[in-house]
Amino acid sequence: MQKITAAITAVGGYVPEDILTNADLEKLVDTNDEWIKSRTGIEERHILRGEGKATSDLVVPAVQELCQKRGIEPNEIECLIVATVTPDMFFPSTANVACEKLGITSAWSFDILAACSGFLYALTTGAALIESGRYNKVVVVGADKMSSIIDYTDRTTCILFGDGAGAVLLEPNNEGYGVLDSILKSDGSGGKYLNMKAGGSLNPSTAETVAAKQHFIFQDGQPVFKFAVTGMADVSYELITRNNLTADDIAWLVPHQANKRIIDATARRMGLPDEKVLLNIQRYGNTTAATIPLCLWDFQDKIHKRDNIVLAAFGGGFTWGATWVKWFI
Ligand code: UT7
Repeated sequence: MQKITAAITAVGGYVPEDILTNADLEKLVDTNDEWIKSRTGIEERHILRGEGKATSDLVVPAVQELCQKRGIEPNEIECLIVATVTPDMFFPSTANVACEKLGITSAWSFDILAACSGFLYALTTGAALIESGRYNKVVVVGADKMSSIIDYTDRTTCILFGDGAGAVLLEPNNEGYGVLDSILKSDGSGGKYLNMKAGGSLNPSTAETVAAKQHFIFQDGQPVFKFAVTGMADVSYELITRNNLTADDIAWLVPHQANKRIIDATARRMGLPDEKVLLNIQRYGNTTAATIPLCLWDFQDKIHKRDNIVLAAFGGGFTWGATWVKWFI
């Protein structure tokens, strides 16, 4: 009997209405559209505004759309996993909060924190639940309200990030579709280059931590860039070679959208032409855990059943990885 695999059977997504353009940022910090576009590829990002709005408010419409597309009720979901670095609060988890808002009463739910690689970590975890044979409907969401941890006076970070959520439904398949292999890695020595220093047990929130702006994202961009270029490219190459796949076998690379130059380097290493690389960084910026599922959501019409897709990510931790998916929908 063919082994059970976790097929992606529906995709949902959500980006908030409000848009922050490069021109808007020119009014906030000393930057310009040309610099942002040429160094990152970003033109605009979506921002979740409004009192009382949090990451779970990005998760909910993404999951609702997914359920509607698949023709199921949210309450049929057995497990909901949310990858995020911007949870509504430390606890309860954003997944717990989202279940309450979605009217899901019978699922177990939890968050995963692996920064920009969060979706791949969560997808691999969700797939393992399906492969175990114990679950039939697992939803994996990547969601971040990055605007909640951005210092809009810091030009080195505020131009990069946006808000959004993407979600996939995993169901068992015995025809060889779905998540077929993953290589995931982490290296805590990279933590000093990309972090949020305060608010945890190391530096609990105080008036001093707020004054020192330690509740905002900190990034030393150049070392992160250097590690990201080699990390994302190497792991993607390792994934395809260990599965005896060539560039011709790959229909699409769906990369984490942090910087177009990092994405180009990964595609080159895999021998893939630009036409096979899905890119929406120009419209959303870096939405951290949401970039990969938002890309699947955006380009669903282009992706066909049986297409081999490589998802690739690199981010804070450092964490990185690549996942091979055979498309089912
Ligand atoms: O998703 C999580 C993982 N994160 C990443 O993958 C991000 C990796 N890093 C990067 O993508 C890039 O390092 C950045 C886009 C963040 C920065 O690009 P860069 O080419 O590494 O620029 P840089 O930091 O070397 O700065 C070059 C110059 C500097 O000026 P000087 O020292 O050459 O005079 C900066 O001060 O650009 C200046 N600069 C800016 N100028 C205009 C930095 N930020 C800006 C800005 N507008 N927003």
